[in-house]
Amino acid sequence: ALDTQRFINEKAEEIKETVGDGWAINALSGGVDSSTVTLLGHRALGDRLKTVFIENGLMRAGEAEQVVGFFRDLGVPVEVVDAREAFFAALKGVTDPEAKREAITQTFYRDVFGRLVRESGAKHLLQGTILTDIDETVAGIKRQHNVFEQLGIDPQKAFGYSIIEPLIQLRKAGVRKMGKALGLPGELFNRIPFPGPALAARVIGEATPERIETVRRATAIVEQHLFECGAFQYMAILHEDRVTGMRDGKRDFGRQIEVRCWDSVDARTATPTRLPFDTLEKLAQEIVAAVPGVVSVSYNIAAKPPSTIEAV
Ligand code: XMP
Repeated sequence: ALDTQRFINEKAEEIKETVGDGWAINALSGGVDSSTVTLLGHRALGDRLKTVFIENGLMRAGEAEQVVGFFRDLGVPVEVVDAREAFFAALKGVTDPEAKREAITQTFYRDVFGRLVRESGAKHLLQGTILTDIDETVAGIKRQHNVFEQLGIDPQKAFGYSIIEPLIQLRKAGVRKMGKALGLPGELFNRIPFPGPALAARVIGEATPERIETVRRATAIVEQHLFECGAFQYMAILHEDRVTGMRDGKRDFGRQIEVRCWDSVDARTATPTRLPFDTLEKLAQEIVAAVPGVVSVSYNIAAKPPSTIEAV
């Protein structure tokens, strides 16, 4: 079993040693992993860790304000960096799932962070990569946005800074324990996982601002309804195909949203939650009413494997 306090002290010492009297920077998305790393990093480095929230245009509704607010309450200042243009420019015309993931990785680490590191004088990026991220990448299932060394990529050479990954031995449950011990409020350490590529992992085909907005609205409805269902993760997926529907008595060749809700322990395998049909029906009614252009809502009933949790 993990001795949480000892582990925290050990990792804080390692961070101090690596950074020396220099500076580090870290990206906070508000997920469990990056939130835990943010608190750990500030415990180790204090003001010598600069924490930023990258507004990539792919985050959920109200996410930036919410996360900045949470951390303000914890005494950690977070700077919001508006990088929406860079991300949408990189995603323009890209439809292949792995190419989309690669475009996001390059924009994040090379373009946005490369610049931030140069401007701030930091030499290290602190980030919350966990064991599951490594597994999937090494197994060739998905290129997780934050994995480099295991792919033979040296971040120092590729991006001009080194990466510190104190959570690399842990899975989600371990990170939650650690976050809790570091003083992360339940609202944050209990949050469902959200992937680095954010809503772009939930849009099949091109992730345009407009298509991201569609999945963002559907996501808000799904999260609101399933908040208390106890599942490991739940989400909305926007499909590329259109289907015939009707609206105001007329044909409406519209969009399809797929709802997914997963039971899982460590994300390596997962099964669809047996949600009550009433819940599904309510979800569908609200999605078609509130999300422009959507005429069809389905629920995924296939397990991982061969499905995966995210659609991209
Ligand atoms: P999949 O979709 O591969 O997801 O079954 C497994 C778990 O990992 C999350 N996920 C990611 N997390 N960077 C991350 O930090 C990524 O690129 C990424 N892709 C998927 C996913 O939400 C699920 O919890």
